Amino acid sequence: MSRVYNFSAGPAVLPEAVLKEAADEMLDYRGCGMSVNEMSHRSKMFQDIIDEAEADLRDLMGIPANYKVLFLQGGAHQQFAAIPLNLCNLPGASKKADYINTGMWSKKALAEAKRFIDAQEIASSADETFTYIPDCSDLPVREDADYVYICENNTIYGTVYHELPDTKGKVLVSDVSSMFLSQPHDVERYGVIYGGVQKNVGPAGLAIVVVREDLIPTEDLPSVPVMMQWRPQADAGSLYNTPNCWSIYMCGKVFKWLKGQGGLEGIYEHNKAKAAILYDYLDESKLFKGTVRREDRSLMNVPFVTGDADLDALFVKESKAAGLENLKGHRSVGGMRVSIYNAMPIEGVEALVAFMKDFEAKH
Ligand SMILES: Cc1ncc(COP(=O)(O)O)c(C=O)c1O
Repeated sequence: MSRVYNFSAGPAVLPEAVLKEAADEMLDYRGCGMSVNEMSHRSKMFQDIIDEAEADLRDLMGIPANYKVLFLQGGAHQQFAAIPLNLCNLPGASKKADYINTGMWSKKALAEAKRFIDAQEIASSADETFTYIPDCSDLPVREDADYVYICENNTIYGTVYHELPDTKGKVLVSDVSSMFLSQPHDVERYGVIYGGVQKNVGPAGLAIVVVREDLIPTEDLPSVPVMMQWRPQADAGSLYNTPNCWSIYMCGKVFKWLKGQGGLEGIYEHNKAKAAILYDYLDESKLFKGTVRREDRSLMNVPFVTGDADLDALFVKESKAAGLENLKGHRSVGGMRVSIYNAMPIEGVEALVAFMKDFEAKH
């Protein structure tokens, strides 16, 4: 068996120890004679799995008791709709929300919200191809906005908020899909913090939504499809319908793995050290150029270019032959993109930088 260094933006690399453990349990989960893929989501065995996963996640993120943890299907995209549909149907809601546009993922969330409510953009970095995070110290937040929305780490452009926006007292909603569990978050600063797990946490097909309890409508919303409402899932412990059992099980294993890495503080230090190896080289390279403003650089997604599309293509081709997979930039940006999520070992980044140095020497 030979595993490559997989720099995919998602679905992405998972910890090898977790994959091995899951492989060991595939035919017979802890003596029950079946795999997790075969057991009822109503069984005691699965209830224990989901309960333990939630308890470990609460522990890792320090989630306060007045927040609910929902394990949902439909990916982050479903939440682009569910967020306005739930938050703007709370009693007294104005059905207005303000969005900060840092590229594709916040743009799509805004477009989706506009189907249902008066959603508007209050800041944007479109003028410089989303290579920076806009100044969020004095945003024109509407007095009656129900919430302010951000995509905290933009997977495509490689930007991250190092400081959360001043929402002027409004509820903050954050999509953390591509930075989930890569660093500590102060959960109490958010009304909703959510993401698809397929980048940093587990197999595709699951979104985790951490939402303050008072932001979950208490009554049925007759105009909103049941599957878009948070309340039925919150009341049923994310078992209103058949959930993505496999992904919940795998995420649970990743949570335990993260605890073994020193929790979110520990993995954050590791992630900073890993990213520094790559950024330090990009800063000294004469061939490669990082595309993001220095102070807004993501620790997870690192886009860079040579400035020559043919050379970029050659780099992607030769890196693949060297066992460095999925380095092609997103189709909307071009160039290269390195995703260095939690499970990418430091050796992977070292191998990449050694390859880049070699490539630079030759071209
Ligand atoms: C930051 C961010 N938000 C949302 C999405 C969409 O997630 P999903 O495919 O789970 O709907 C992605 C990527 O897929 C993403 O990177």
